Amino acid sequence: MTDRYAVLGNPIQHSKSPWLHARFAELTGQSIEYGRLLVPLTGFKTTLAAMRAAGMKGANVTVPFKFEAFDLCDSLTDRARSAGAVNTLRFLPGGGLAGDNTDGAGLLADLSRLTGSLVNRRLLMLGAGGAVAGVLEPLLEAGLSSLVLLNRTPEKACVLAQRLKERFASVHIEAGGFDHAPMPADIIVNGTSSGLTGEPIPLHPVWFEGVQLAYDMMYGAQPTVFMNQAAAFSVPVSDGLGMLVEQAAEAFLVWRGVRPPTASVLQAARDSFLKAI
Ligand code: ATR
Repeated sequence: MTDRYAVLGNPIQHSKSPWLHARFAELTGQSIEYGRLLVPLTGFKTTLAAMRAAGMKGANVTVPFKFEAFDLCDSLTDRARSAGAVNTLRFLPGGGLAGDNTDGAGLLADLSRLTGSLVNRRLLMLGAGGAVAGVLEPLLEAGLSSLVLLNRTPEKACVLAQRLKERFASVHIEAGGFDHAPMPADIIVNGTSSGLTGEPIPLHPVWFEGVQLAYDMMYGAQPTVFMNQAAAFSVPVSDGLGMLVEQAAEAFLVWRGVRPPTASVLQAARDSFLKAI
């Protein structure tokens, strides 16, 4: 019988995960079915039980269920534990629920594609919400020499930084508000949700001196406000479409034991569904 998976969220109609996993299945010759499920806001646990009863193998989880998924898991990977959120679930044969988080690995893979190894690189991250907390551990594991977290609400960045300092004692980690004068960076990542409202972030020209890549974790048919702001400082910019593709490839690896090639899928995504957004 073909193994079945689905992405769970509310809303879910916009999700590109079924399209991505269909491409990965073709490229790897794996036979899977992958659907999307609109889950009622109070119905996440019930939906998981129904999926398990139907013999499904796993699920991706998106807004707003990543934290509830975390709470329901019987076992968690280190990266999921550190994120405090789960985006990839496996129904274990004995009845358990295993949780993982592939967002950080997805971001790491895309940053590496664009700008090479992260070993000894300095990263400035804007934002300190759930999306940022979810990706930092794999970036630090990859060998960053420094991480600066700046957030509109500085206290949130400081709390996050404090937690990370305990785990990554050899990395220079600092945090503050947007008025903080951070140490120089090689890579700047926008992990705020400001793009949703199109509000510009108060970016300071000095942050961009010597920067090799300004990356927005968001994407859309048009360059994001952050990308336009960063391009004005004459640094290379990228949206987060590659992160979307890579986090899905990582989930495919978790389930199927094979990591699909992503370059042609990213190109196809850019050529097809991005235009439809
Ligand atoms: P997500 O899951 O997208 O991370 P979140 O946990 O609500 O959502 O976090 C949103 C992040 O974007 C926060 O860092 C938020 O800053 P605050 O902590 O000060 O709220 C940041 N953010 C949202 N809108 C922003 C804006 N217009 N300018 C700057 N930062 C913004």
